[in-house]
Amino acid sequence: MLANTPVLPRFDGYPSGWFVIGWSDELAVGQVVPLHYFGQKLVLFRGEDGRANLLDAYCAHLGASLAAGGVVKGCNIECPFHAWRYAGDGRCVEIPYAQKIPRKAFVRAWEVREHSGLLFMWHDAQGRQPDYEIPTLPEWENPGWTRWTMSKLQIRTHPREIVENVVDKAHFPQVHNTHVESFENEFEGHKATQRTRGVAYPVGGGRDQFAIEATYFGPGVQFSWMNGVLEARLLNAHVPIDEHHLDLRFGVMLKMIGSEEKTRMFAQKYAENLQLGFHQDIAIWENKLFRELPVLCEGDGPIMRLRQWYAQFYGDGARGRVDEKQEVAR
Ligand code: FES
Ligand SMILES: [Fe+2]
Repeated sequence: MLANTPVLPRFDGYPSGWFVIGWSDELAVGQVVPLHYFGQKLVLFRGEDGRANLLDAYCAHLGASLAAGGVVKGCNIECPFHAWRYAGDGRCVEIPYAQKIPRKAFVRAWEVREHSGLLFMWHDAQGRQPDYEIPTLPEWENPGWTRWTMSKLQIRTHPREIVENVVDKAHFPQVHNTHVESFENEFEGHKATQRTRGVAYPVGGGRDQFAIEATYFGPGVQFSWMNGVLEARLLNAHVPIDEHHLDLRFGVMLKMIGSEEKTRMFAQKYAENLQLGFHQDIAIWENKLFRELPVLCEGDGPIMRLRQWYAQFYGDGARGRVDEKQEVAR
């Protein structure tokens, strides 16, 4: 390679890290949920011990889908075809018509975490174990706060477009009708933070003087701490479905103001405004191309710095070791 050739980040395949795959409230004991993430069919179920488990959907026996007719039996899931039962760790633990369980009778089990009202899966392209955790939001357990008001959207785009929003300072006035007073970014290991102050003019009307600190914990989960007219905690999380689509989940928790009912109404309104904000971005994302080497100018946020940070979650990565010198001009 020639000296001074910029090293561009690659975003081939899927990112590695923790991803939100659902809301705790949507997975009752005994429930089975089919999922399709990272180009694979998966099955999520909650056993009677209350634990959420995530397995590859196809049975090791003759390949029936546990996600289409599988039933929770105790803490295990039973295949609809010949009733083989699988534990949460993916091992077949019972075959009703056989004494001996074949050694190869297992399906892949994915690491799951559950806290803050959210279900997370660990995906690592190289099969490595988790090397960071998503912090808990104590507000979830706090009766002084609402539960999540939540939404999910399927979008046709690449995850890097969503993440790039973190540093894209110049799109706020144009796309979101937001006046930015101050804007800064910080990158530290697996975390990327944006701190913004400004005035938002939501589509639904009104004027909101706000201060927000938004942090990505790894490539797919962002929590925001927002102080404005209302005090809010926001979730913005995406997970790849395949190489061209992703699920975007967002949620709002609000600190109670006055009655619970009134706060809930606010939270609903707030979530709707947030959703409108995302729709403004989506209209751009679904129609744009990704410029590997964009023409940037003074006043743009640190877009190339963000890409270097994000590249650590791809391929064999070098998590937490982003080489400043590899940064191409911003
Ligand atoms: S295919 Fe699942 S038990 Fe036979
Ligand atoms: Fe945006």
